[in-house]
Amino acid sequence: MIDKAIERLKKTRSLLIITGAGISAESGIPTFRGADGLWENYRAEELATPWAFERDPETVWRWYDWRRGIIGKAEPNKGHLAIKRFEEIFENFFLITQNVDGLHAKTGIKNMVEIHGNLWRVCCTRDKRTFMLTEHPLKIVPPVCECGSIVRPDVVWFGESIPGEYIQRSYEAMNRCDTLIVAGTSGVVYPVASFPQMVKDNGGFVIEVNIEETPISQIADISLYGASGDILPMLVKGLEP
Ligand code: OAD
Repeated sequence: MIDKAIERLKKTRSLLIITGAGISAESGIPTFRGADGLWENYRAEELATPWAFERDPETVWRWYDWRRGIIGKAEPNKGHLAIKRFEEIFENFFLITQNVDGLHAKTGIKNMVEIHGNLWRVCCTRDKRTFMLTEHPLKIVPPVCECGSIVRPDVVWFGESIPGEYIQRSYEAMNRCDTLIVAGTSGVVYPVASFPQMVKDNGGFVIEVNIEETPISQIADISLYGASGDILPMLVKGLEP
């Protein structure tokens, strides 16, 4: 299977990669839906919503601050670095990540959209000003803007729309690509969950990389089961002279 994937990549003119929390698992960041995805018995869907924030901003911020503590110490792993190498190999390359951890950006990758936002960026709930908040642990929970209003993480929550610019850049990349690698996502959160089918409908080829079967496995032309930190470097190696 891996040879077939490498053959396809050798013929690829425009490569699109989609990643989810699984790509950062080997950097020590818990995924959302795995056994370790729970925090104090809350599920992500119960905390990552505008309603949860309205009701109890302190708990939501404590969860994000806990994640910021883990993410702040994390470094990109072999999977992230392989994706950076893909960007160098393919003249036409784009990455859509659902991750808010900033680890892809840490590799220096440029052609990318963080479609669910970034955990270090915050947005004032009143004047909508955005700025980076690097302090951890937070001294004041929830943190406040200069104007005195509380700020929220500048991430997309369940029930919220993805900013139009991110959607537009994603659609352009989907229309352009002839091969999609989708790595480390459970494929259940929309709209990204629908992207592999859209690429297929455009005549594209889909390669999935995951440790287990997902709904995307039904759509994928090839599913490569294993850790992204092992599989993605193998694909890169197959393309190197
Ligand atoms: P999930 O936690 O739903 O899924 C993680 C996926 O990674 C699972 O399919 C695992 O099998 C797989 N996985 C785990 N370790 C892996 C490894 N080492 N190599 C390859 N695959 C591995 O995370 P996402 O699909 O990213 O949204 O979740 C999507 C969205 O739901 C997130 O962006 C977040 C969440 O709620 C928001 O916060 C809006």
